[in-house]
Formats: sequence, C-alpha cells, structure tokens
Amino acid sequence: MSSPRRILVTSALPYANGPIHLGHLVEYLQTDIWARYQRLRGEDCTYVCADDAHGTPIMLLAQQRGISPEQLIEEIGRQHREDFADFLIEFDRYHSTHSEENRQLSCGIFEALSEAGHIHRKTISRYFDPVAGMFLSDRYLRGTCPRCGAEDQYGDACEQCGATYDSSELVNPRSTLSDTAPELRETEHLFFRLGDFTDFLRQWAAHGGVQPEIKNKLDEWFEAGLRDWDISRDAPYFGFEIPGSPNQYFYVWLDAPIGYMASHLNLCRERGFDFDGYWSADSEAELYHFIGKDIAYFHTLFWPALLHGAGYRTPNAVWCHGFLTINGEKMSKSTGTFIEARTYLHHLDPEHLRYYFAAKLSPDISDINLNLDDFVARVNSDLVGKVVNIASRCAGFIEKQFGGRLAERLPEPAMFEDFAAAADGLAEHYEARRFSQAMRDIMALADHANQYLSQEKPWETVRDAATREQAWEACTQGLNLFRVLVIYLKPVLPALAARSEAFLDSGPLDWEARLAPQLDCPIQPFTPLSTRIDPKSVNAMIEETKSASAPPEPERSDTLPYEDFAKVDLRVARVAEARLVEGADRLLALTLDLGDEQRQVFAGIRAAYPPEQLQGRLVVVVANLEPRKMRFGTSEGMILAAGDDESTWLLTLDEGAQPGMKIR
Ligand code: 2FM
Ligand code: ZN
Repeated sequence: MSSPRRILVTSALPYANGPIHLGHLVEYLQTDIWARYQRLRGEDCTYVCADDAHGTPIMLLAQQRGISPEQLIEEIGRQHREDFADFLIEFDRYHSTHSEENRQLSCGIFEALSEAGHIHRKTISRYFDPVAGMFLSDRYLRGTCPRCGAEDQYGDACEQCGATYDSSELVNPRSTLSDTAPELRETEHLFFRLGDFTDFLRQWAAHGGVQPEIKNKLDEWFEAGLRDWDISRDAPYFGFEIPGSPNQYFYVWLDAPIGYMASHLNLCRERGFDFDGYWSADSEAELYHFIGKDIAYFHTLFWPALLHGAGYRTPNAVWCHGFLTINGEKMSKSTGTFIEARTYLHHLDPEHLRYYFAAKLSPDISDINLNLDDFVARVNSDLVGKVVNIASRCAGFIEKQFGGRLAERLPEPAMFEDFAAAADGLAEHYEARRFSQAMRDIMALADHANQYLSQEKPWETVRDAATREQAWEACTQGLNLFRVLVIYLKPVLPALAARSEAFLDSGPLDWEARLAPQLDCPIQPFTPLSTRIDPKSVNAMIEETKSASAPPEPERSDTLPYEDFAKVDLRVARVAEARLVEGADRLLALTLDLGDEQRQVFAGIRAAYPPEQLQGRLVVVVANLEPRKMRFGTSEGMILAAGDDESTWLLTLDEGAQPGMKIR
C-alpha cells in the first residue's frame, strides 16, 4: 500500500469583529467536506484555520465597546469556534493571528525579505484625522467622486459610476470617524517589491495552481505590472510592531496569511509534528488554500511571493469559490437574509445546510444561491425521502421479524458491486471539488436502491412463509446499499453517518468498507436519522434575523440614570475670541470666558459661523470633559450645538446669563 498523502488545507481566516454568517459557511463547509473526504480515504489531511485578529476595525470596535482588543478577539474567537463546531467543521487547529507563533513567523519572513532587498521605505501622503488622531484607510473616508461628482462615495471607489481612484483625488473628503475634514500628511511606509517576483509568479500560476478564471485575472495583473505593496501602518494600530520600526505595524494583510502557518506551527509544536517538513522549499507535502474570489489577489500574488522570497514552499493550489446569494439576492438585513450561523442553528439542522451547499458547490467561482424553498424541497426529498427512506423501509422488518439480524447473503450481489464501484467516479468528483456532481450521482444510486425495494416489496413478501426469507434478504440488500451511500455521504453528513454506524453496529466506516457487505450480524434498533424540514422553521429563522437587525426599542437600561447626567458640568461661557485654525478648514479655535477662568476649545463650526459673528456671544459648554490633545493644541471642553448634514446651530442663552453659571 502506498503511504498516505500529506495534505495541509486552510480556509480564509474570518475577521474577529463579527459573527459567522451563512456567507462565510460556504467556504468552511467546502473545505471541511474536502478534508473529511481525504481522511475517509486514509490520507493524512490536516485542516487549520484561525481568527484574523488585527487591523483598525477591530481596534475601533474594541474602543467603542470600552474593552481591550485582546478581550474583544478572545470573545469573538470563542463564538467563532462554537459556531464552527456546531456546523461540524472539524479543524485540526483553530488559532489566532494575534499569537506568539504568528509574531515570530511574521517578523522572520519580514526580516528575510528585508535582507534579500525586497523591502524599501517610501514617504507617501495619507489622510489623517486630527480629531480621531489617526491616519485613515479608504474605508473611513467619504467624499465626492472625482469622476462623476456623486456625493458621499468611498475613499477608493464610486458606487455611482464604478470609478476607482486614489483617495487623494476624492473631492471634499470627510473622515467617517469624526465627520471632519481630514488632512493630507506625509508619512514613511514600508513597501514590499512585489514586482521582483513577476517571473516567479508567472511560472507558479502556469503550473495549474489556480482556476482558469483566476489565471485570466492574473494575466491581466501581470500585464498591468505588479506594484509595490504597502505593508506598514502607523500607530495607533492593533497588530505586530515591525522590528526596527517603532510605532509602525504590519498591515493586517501581511500577517493574516502567515496565520495559516502560525496555526499549523501551534499544532505541530503541541503534537511533535514536523512543521519544516510541510513548509520547507523542497517539501513534498501538499498545501491548498480555499478562499473567496474577492481575496484572490492576496493569495495568488502577495502570498506566494512572500513565501518564496522568505525561502518557504508555495501553495500547490489556491481554490476560489463564489459568493452566497439567498433567494437570488445579496444577503440583506432588511429582508432577513443576512442570516448568522447561530440564528440558523436555533431553527435548523446544520447537516441540512451542509447537504444543500454540497449539492450546489462546483469547482468554479460562480455564485451559489440558497433558495430557501428549494432548500426545504431538496433536503426533504433527497436526504429524508431518498437516503434515509432506504433504511427506514428495511429496518423495522429486520428488527421485528428477523431478530435484529441481517441475512447471510445478498440476493443481488452484482447490484451491490455496482454501488461499490461507483466509488472511483465519486472520488474523482470529491477530489476535484465537484461536490454537486457527487451528490447527483449518490442520489441516482439512492433512487436505484428505492426502486429495488419497491419491486421487491418486502412488506408483502414478509407475510407469506414461502417468501419470508426473500423479504429478509431484500431488506439486508437494502441496508447494505444504504451503508454504501452512508460512506459516500460521510464527508458531507458526518453526524448522520455516525448515527447510521451506531444503527448498523458497523464501527466507523471508511472508504474501503464499501467493498465488503455486512451480513449475518446483528444491527441496532432504528432511530430517526434525519427529519424533514418544516418550512415554518425557515420562516422563524428569517423572522429572528429580521428582528435582530431592527433598531432596538429603547429600554430602561438605555436611559441615563440621573446621577450620571448630574456628572455633566454644563456651564454658560462667553466667546472671548474666535479664530480660524490653519490647516483645519472645519475648525474654529475659541477662547471661552467661564467667569473665573478662560478655556480654549476647538469646535467644528467654521462653515456655519464666521469667527467675527461669535465674538461676545453666550454659549453652553461642557466644562468637565476630559481635555483632548489635537495637532493644533488641546481642546478643553466642548460647546453644544444642534446639527444635521447641512449646517450647525449653536445653543445660546438670553443676555443676562453670566459666564460660569451652571446649567440645571
Ligand atoms: O477577507 C477576510 O475576511 C480576511 N480576514 C481573510 C484573511 S485570509 C488569510 F489571508 F488570512
Ligand atoms: Zn462617480
């Protein structure tokens, strides 16, 4: 017997800033089915994944929730693991990119690339939000499209005309963090010279590691020329500080794929496995990444280049899948189709989704539609009406009429052999990720088994002493055909397979077990192996999704206790002086007279109030707000104003109120 293949597979690492939803699950289920299939065949297949725990959104979400990023990623990591486990996704290791292994590997790869001359520094202009105190990535910028003039477009692309541009071209840019105008500032970043790897990547792509659609895309990218990749971000940032570059952090996309290695390293260290044997440049182990088509650039250019540049092996293949649509549309909160994994689990069986996705998945990058009516119909008809039906048609007779024992012989051995011989074709389909074809072929076999039972009619033959034996053998035949189907479906339906193994008293079934029928042995009493989906459960899931995304009713806990409100020290102040602030076209610097002291406050009211109009005016100020350091000085309070997108109206007081008076 040849020795097993050593295979390492991964799914993309989900961000640790939100729950797993059905869109994510397409990929984890696709990978899990493939990995389970390999293990069922006796291959040495390891499946690793991790939470993608770095980056600005995670840092900001933690701030918003008043917890540390470490606490946030710990909490979300736990939820992700639970969701995956409940969908029967069997990782050999689920780790985090915020781990010591990942720090070591990321720094090591960076240093190797630096030494080989693939990293350089360059000064660039980036938008900086002085109020939030940070540089802004494109996602935190909105402004007017420089091409078509549409307002409120993202920093890198216009949803109206489809143009893509550099954020420095955006007209009237605004920071979505503070709703102020950001400033362009110079900063030095580190860049990876991706272009150094053009020839290498062309060769890598030519060796069949990518699907044809992705190969075409790669050719376009090669044609356009590979640009340097900006791999650093300035503080504040949640990630790994770059060795030798204080206050500069690895961009999240640098250490994310290295997280695949880190997760594997964590497993290898714990189990004493040979990490280098998988990752050295001459490794014979196989490495496959399952990803969504939207992140192909990172995985088919940056990632192989990083690995190769640092002296590691590269992936054998990167396999992209399409996006999930539900009822033919993009998932949406308002229609209740932005369904979280946990919400699904409140109402439905995880294996039903596993089966439905398997029945839809192909090796190409086309989108996958979950039509909810079709989901109910398909699961009920295929799993319950075809596969489980074979067992339930036979089990009762074996149990009640034949002492719970299978007969000594199969009446139709050739038919059994045909079922067993289907394995080769199915193996090819699984291996090539043609899961939908595999499911079609398995259901055709299930139809065949049901036709056999319908012809044999054991429920009739069992009543006559002369044909009783025939009924017994027909049921034995039926259960053996069922058993082969269970083996074929085991990568998709591991829990149904485990229940079937218990019922057949067969022990764990592997791919080879299909060859020998199970005869002249006891089986266990039949218990339901899968139950029909009630469409009401699907509706309940949609309703729960809708209500979870509706704005929450204000609750008592959302109200502010009087004692808290009383902590806010609101005072009357007179504007002693109002000045423009150079370099901040939204701000005015106000000197406020609070009676016994003067304060400096920066207020974003320049568009609505020329400074000269404010001189001498009474305003309301929050006097005990923590001072906030800004680039132009420290703001020692906040003045109150009403506002909308258009303008701003100051809260003022009738003459007679005195500066310093408390507002009660
Ligand atoms: O797109 C995403 O959701 C990323 N978190 C995927 C990272 S995959 C890998 F590179 F780590
Ligand atoms: Zn536009």
